[in-house]
Amino acid sequence: MRYQIPIHAGERTCTAHVGSGLIANMGPVVASALRRQARRAFIVADSRVPGAFTLAAAESLKGVGLASRVVAVKPSEQDKSLASLERLLVEMARMRLERDDIVVAMGGGIVGDLAGFAAAIYRRGVPVVQCPTTLLAMVDASVGGKTGINLDAGEGPLAEPLKNVVGAFHHPHVVIADVDTLRSLPPRTLRCGLAECIKHGLLAGGAGDPGLLDWTRGKFASILSADPATLAELVSRNIALKARVVEQDEREQASDEAGGRALLNLGHTFGHALETLPGLIGHPGSLPGGLHHGEAVGIGLVAAATLGAALGLTPPDMAASLRELLEEAGLPTRVDHLPEDDRIIDRMRHDKKVQGAAMRFIVPLAGHGAKVVRDPPIQAIAAALQAIRL
Ligand SMILES: NC(=O)c1ccc[n+]([C@@H]2O[C@H](COP(=O)([O-])OP(=O)(O)OC[C@H]3O[C@@H](n4cnc5c(N)ncnc54)[C@H](O)[C@@H]3O)[C@@H](O)[C@H]2O)c1
Repeated sequence: MRYQIPIHAGERTCTAHVGSGLIANMGPVVASALRRQARRAFIVADSRVPGAFTLAAAESLKGVGLASRVVAVKPSEQDKSLASLERLLVEMARMRLERDDIVVAMGGGIVGDLAGFAAAIYRRGVPVVQCPTTLLAMVDASVGGKTGINLDAGEGPLAEPLKNVVGAFHHPHVVIADVDTLRSLPPRTLRCGLAECIKHGLLAGGAGDPGLLDWTRGKFASILSADPATLAELVSRNIALKARVVEQDEREQASDEAGGRALLNLGHTFGHALETLPGLIGHPGSLPGGLHHGEAVGIGLVAAATLGAALGLTPPDMAASLRELLEEAGLPTRVDHLPEDDRIIDRMRHDKKVQGAAMRFIVPLAGHGAKVVRDPPIQAIAAALQAIRL
């Protein structure tokens, strides 16, 4: 099954193509999405994506007159850096990439953000084709035009780089989400993408797809066994949902009352703090070596629902049912050896310093929606942290 989802981005509409066998046939799709004839394609490929996909992309692009050059990136958050960005820009200049030529980002969210940002600033912007190859990148990172890198500007020897602090809005000309690429994805990475789908499901009532969460729950087994038809439907419904939210508030400028694009950060204030604390182990099921982004977001959803309940905004039983749902998907919902509250609150306040704004949380509401809350009482935050402590 193949899907085409229009995403209205500024004055342009980009189409997301979702299905099986898309990369091998991407040439004509890319050519018809471009305003002018391109001659070269700079393919930035995640080194863990099987080479057959990169070769198939280059071959198909050749069929419509584009000569490709492939650069492999071994993605980690440390490599989402100025140094990696410079390396890509130098390669682009060396291959004499012109304004009408294209960048193809083929990988997870790290490659999408890095290559997307390189495309945004090279010659003041060249078209980018997003070919996401993780579930998270398909349902989230490749849609909405945010690109960027981390910056090593923290103070002190233990300071973490500031995440996504340098970047640009640069919408893709076309998104090609070939679900066949998900077959090689480690199960843990697939589950991380599922956490973002559960987050979308919680918001779906306010964004035109009220049945999404129940449908997703009913399909956990087929999703986790990478069934292509189920994955294609999952990805297309999630892209459509994110597109509807982004279209209303492209630059995330809506007021707290309106919510807008910021609501997509449900679970993320807690999640970001957890994922930047080294060595945490999620329970049940995660492994030593720190929480992955999707795991941290899932745990953050439980914390956000508990916070909302403490503030009288979220139904009191929502955190428990969310915990059950996440554990059914094989995701952790508690953290072993979680540091004391002050240290986590400090992490969350760090965002406050950077943004010059209040500590901001998104809490889920009854009937699948969410609400922005600023600087809630510390006792309510403590209750939320208690709920995720093992
Ligand atoms: N721009 C946005 O709107 C947006 C939204 C959400 C997240 N992000 C960013 O996305 C990043 C996280 O993305 P992610 O979860 O995709 O992580 P990732 O890019 O690190 O990919 C996860 C892992 O999967 C591997 N991988 C990718 N595709 C594969 C495949 N087909 N087969 C086997 N292995 C494969 C990667 O090499 C990596 O080890 C973060 O940097 C985050 O900031 C951006």
